[in-house]
Amino acid sequence: MTDKPKLLIVEDDLGLQSQLRWHFDQYEIIVAGNRVDAVDAIQLHEPPLVLQDLGLPPDDEGVDEGFRCIREISTLAPNTKIIVMTGNADYENAVRAVAMGAYDFYQKPVNSETLDLILQRAYHIFELEEQNRRLQEQRQEPLEGIIACDPTMMKICRTIEKLAPSIVTCTLTGESGTGKEVLARALHQLSSRHEGRMVAINCAAVPENLMESELFGYEKGAFTGANKRTLGKVETASGGTLFLDEIGDMPLALQAKLLRFLQERVIERVGGREEIPVDVRVVCATNKDLQKMVQEQTFREDLYYRICEMEIHIPPLRDRQGDKLLLARHFLRKFTEQNNSQVTGFSSEAVDAIEAYDWPGNIREMENRVKRSVVMADDKLISSEDLGLVSDESLNINLRQVRQNAEKNAILRALAMKEGNISAASKLLGVTRPTLYDLIKKYNIQVAITE
Ligand SMILES: Nc1ncnc2c1ncn2[C@@H]1O[C@H](COP(=O)(O)OP(=O)(O)OP(=O)(O)O)[C@@H](O)[C@H]1O
Ligand SMILES: [Mg+2]
Repeated sequence: MTDKPKLLIVEDDLGLQSQLRWHFDQYEIIVAGNRVDAVDAIQLHEPPLVLQDLGLPPDDEGVDEGFRCIREISTLAPNTKIIVMTGNADYENAVRAVAMGAYDFYQKPVNSETLDLILQRAYHIFELEEQNRRLQEQRQEPLEGIIACDPTMMKICRTIEKLAPSIVTCTLTGESGTGKEVLARALHQLSSRHEGRMVAINCAAVPENLMESELFGYEKGAFTGANKRTLGKVETASGGTLFLDEIGDMPLALQAKLLRFLQERVIERVGGREEIPVDVRVVCATNKDLQKMVQEQTFREDLYYRICEMEIHIPPLRDRQGDKLLLARHFLRKFTEQNNSQVTGFSSEAVDAIEAYDWPGNIREMENRVKRSVVMADDKLISSEDLGLVSDESLNINLRQVRQNAEKNAILRALAMKEGNISAASKLLGVTRPTLYDLIKKYNIQVAITE
C-alpha cells in the first residue's frame, strides 16, 4: 500500500511505457497496453488519473479504439480525469476526445515537465471535486438507516426530526414498501423516548375478536383461557412509542375504544375495572386512503383527526429523484458484503432498467430484487436479467421516462441556479413563463418560486 495517487497509463509502446513509468515516481503507476486491460484496471484500482494514448491496438494508426476506451472509462469512472495523448498536429481528434469526456489532451512528443503540470492540475481538480462530493453528501444526510437524496424525502426527514421531541400523533401514509415503518422507527429513535420501547401492532393481522385484549390487555379470568393478568401493547409501550401499523384495517368497534384512549390517555384492561393512565407516543401507518374511508364511513372521522395531527405522505419510489440508483447501490453493497460475493456493480443496461422500471413494490421490491440478483449473477456486473427486469414494455417506458426525467431535472437545475426566479429560469431553459409554469405543475415540482 502506498499513499501516492494512482495513475493509469494506457500506452502500447513499450519504450514510452517505461519512460513514463520512470518519470512519474510521485504516482503509483499502473500500466495497461490496450483498452480491455485499461477497463479492468479502472475497475480494480479506480485511479483518479489516466494518461491515455489515442492510438491503441489493434487500431494503432487509427483512433477508434482510443475513443472507445475513453467512452468506457468515463462511463465506468465518471470522476476519473483522463488526459489523452495524441500524435503531433492531431488537433481535431484531441478536441473530439475532450468533447467525449477526456479532461485534457497533450500532443506528442512527450515533454515530461509539461505533462507533470497537466497531471498535477488534473489531480488537484479531482481532489476538489471529491471534497465537494463529500461535503454535499454530509449536508444532505437524511436520517440514520434512511437512504435518500430526493428533495421530498429530505423534507420528510427534516419534518421527522422536528416532530420527534413532541408528543404530536403522526400518521405515515404511502404505498406498501415505501418505508413507513423505518420512518416510524426513526421518529422513535430521535425522540426523548428512545430508551423506552417502540411496540408495534399490525391491525390487519390481529383477528377482530382478539384486538381489544391485544391492545389493552386483560385481567385473570376475563374470559376462558385468561389464566393470568396480561398487559396489552399500549401498556407495554409505556414510556416509549406505540406503532399502530395498518391503522386503516382497525375494526370500527375498536376505533371507538382507541379514540377514547387517545383522548383520555387511560386504558381499561379487558375484564378489569380500573382506569390505568399510560404515557405513550402514538404513531400510525397505513397504505389506505383514510379520507376516502371517512367518506365511506368505514373510518371514524373523529379518530381520523385525532391520529392525523400530523400526516406525512411518503412518495412512492418511482416519484423520487435519484433514489432508485442510490438505493440499488446501497442494497448491492449490503448484499455483496453479506454474501462475500464477487459482484462489483450493475451493467449499464441494468442501470437503465432500474431507472425505467416503476417499482410498484417500492423499496421492499428493490431490496428483494437486488438481493436475488447478487445470488443469481454469473458475472461481476449484475444484468437486467439478474434483476428480472427485461421486457419490451420496459424499453418502451424507458425512452419516455428518460425524456421526462431529463426534462424535470433540467427544470429543477434551472430553478436552483436562478433561486426559484421564474423569469430567469424560463429564459435559461428557452421556454416562455407560462410553459415553465405548466411544466412545474406537470412534474409536481415543489420549490419556492418568485416572479
Ligand atoms: N429510505 C430507505 N432506505 C433504506 N431502506 C429502506 C428505505 N425505505 C424502506 N427501506 C427498507 O425497505 C423495506 C420496506 O420498508 P418498510 O417496512 O418500512 O415499508 P412499509 O411502508 O412499512 O411497507 P408496508 O406498507 O408494506 O408495511 C424495509 O426492509 C426497510 O428497511
Ligand atoms: Mg409496514
